[in-house]
Amino acid sequence: MQNPKYLEIDNLFYSSLIVVNYYREQTDLLLKNLIETNINMNISIFYEKQDSYKTIKDLTYHIGNVGVEIKEANQNRQDIDIASYTYNDAKYIRKEMQVNNEDLYFLYIYINLYSDDIKELEYNLNKIEGILQSKGMQTRRANFRQEECFLATLPIMENREIIKEVSRRNILTSGLISTYPFLSSSIFDKNGIFIGTNIYNNSLVFIDRYNTEKYKNANICIFGTSGAGKSFYTKLLILRYKLLGIKQYIIDPDREYNKVCKNLRGVQIKIGPTSETYINILDIRKESIEFGENGYLATKISKLIGFFNLIFGEMDEEEKALLEEKIIEVYKLKNITFDDKSLYDKNNNFKSEKHMPILEDLFNILSKDPRTKKFRIKLIPFVEGSMKFFNNYTNVKLDNELIVADIYDLGEENLKYGMYLFTDIFWDKIKENREEKKAIYLDEIWRLIRSYIK
Ligand SMILES: Nc1ncnc2c1ncn2[C@@H]1O[C@H](COP(=O)(O)OP(=O)(O)OP(=O)(O)O)[C@@H](O)[C@H]1O
Ligand SMILES: [Mg+2]
Repeated sequence: MQNPKYLEIDNLFYSSLIVVNYYREQTDLLLKNLIETNINMNISIFYEKQDSYKTIKDLTYHIGNVGVEIKEANQNRQDIDIASYTYNDAKYIRKEMQVNNEDLYFLYIYINLYSDDIKELEYNLNKIEGILQSKGMQTRRANFRQEECFLATLPIMENREIIKEVSRRNILTSGLISTYPFLSSSIFDKNGIFIGTNIYNNSLVFIDRYNTEKYKNANICIFGTSGAGKSFYTKLLILRYKLLGIKQYIIDPDREYNKVCKNLRGVQIKIGPTSETYINILDIRKESIEFGENGYLATKISKLIGFFNLIFGEMDEEEKALLEEKIIEVYKLKNITFDDKSLYDKNNNFKSEKHMPILEDLFNILSKDPRTKKFRIKLIPFVEGSMKFFNNYTNVKLDNELIVADIYDLGEENLKYGMYLFTDIFWDKIKENREEKKAIYLDEIWRLIRSYIK
């Protein structure tokens, strides 16, 4: 070792600080501010529990001695101050031990900083000294004791006598709490993906949202002002989950995911007035019901009521009942009833898209009943007007790992219908196999939600 101020090991410079004093009444976490800095360091804390019986005996002896000294004192002021300080200290410790049953520990704290740049190291040392000072902790540079302090910060339980002498402080059980070091708020899930950095301590955050032991569900919600980067961030998530082979479905109202889709070899499904791709909202799919459950039609009806709520506006109970009656009727037309067996054909195959009713069938039924005139009128655009692409048999298969549903062409007013349609179909994809990890992304979801709030 050439320099008393630092060690050089494998091109890194190491320098240590020894905590030599601190306020005993400190109730804050002493090391919190240190751990939250983004400075490379190792901290070592040693505690040595003292024998209570012996400590109290020693203290009592000391109190007696110093008490006499103070009384006899006609020396200079400073001496009296120091003596009365330790005298009161000793009394305080003895009281806490006797009355509050606390234990006395010897405490040693070493902080070892390192950097590949000597100037940076010096800068950081100053910074840490400043932080500690402001927290009422006095430190001393470990000049000429760099090696001992370095060893003390290795996980080998080596605290040499020569540095112990300077760093030893008394601490009671209650004070011990303030040295608790495990308070860093870093999140690092083993199989997680990179989410971002922690704004408090710059640590990297990795989250495995599919970890059911840790999280109740895998949902996430991204908030931010316009232009803050929500969509950009979502694209990053898509990219990272793609690398993990997770199936992803994206509902894209602003046509901004087509590039990411193309580059990750996904498929894009476009619906709108100019597209030849159709999805029938009245489809009942085999995967709509999870294995072992039943009630295809009932499940479908409740979903459809949600969809028609968007079109017809808020319905009262009577209207809902009426609509439900008509929906049942339209499925009856296709021989689909509340009996789940009616969803299978003669050969026991699940009925295909061609055997499902479409909106026009419902429209015709609504036309026959004067009570449903209001519904009928509102359905006109969906059957023969600008939105008539809703009135078709489904002609797409969704079997890619990455699917982007482009609903941009629906236009601002009608986006919500597209969102609903795809949420429904993607949700069924999710249910297909619950063992598989999947994700649905709904950008600009407020456009769907606001329709319900109104
Ligand atoms: N981390 C980033 N690095 C570089 N550019 C970014 C980053 N995040 C966002 N951007 C850019 O900022 C712009 C706005 O981002 P983005 O479209 O994701 O915002 P948004 O929150 O989705 O906005 P809106 O609410 O309008 O949809 C885009 O041009 C995007 O490329
Ligand atoms: Mg956006």
